[in-house]
Amino acid sequence: MTWRSLLTPADLVPITLDGAEVAVPQAATLAAALVAAGLDARPRCLIGTCQQCRMVIEGREVRACRVALTAGLAVRTIVAPAPDDSRASADRNR
Ligand code: FES
Repeated sequence: MTWRSLLTPADLVPITLDGAEVAVPQAATLAAALVAAGLDARPRCLIGTCQQCRMVIEGREVRACRVALTAGLAVRTIVAPAPDDSRASADRNR
C-alpha cells in the first residue's frame, strides 16, 4: 500500500506543471504539494531561505514554498544548474 492509495480524488488539487496536468495532494504550499507528490525531490528548506524552489507563475519568479496551493495553478520549473556545472562553481566562488 502506498500513500497514494489512501487519497481520494477530493484530496487532490489539479495544477499544470511544465505544461502537463497533474494532481497533487492538498497542502499549504505549492512546494509542499510537489514534494508530497514526488514531483520534486530536490533538497529544500520549505521555509523560504534556500531558494531551491524557484518557479515561474504567470511570468513571475516565485518561491514555491511561499505560494499557497490553489487549483488551476500553472507552474513552470526553473532548472537549477548541476552541481558540477563550471559556471555554477564559478558563481559560488565569487
Ligand atoms: S524551499 Fe527553500 S526557499 Fe523554498
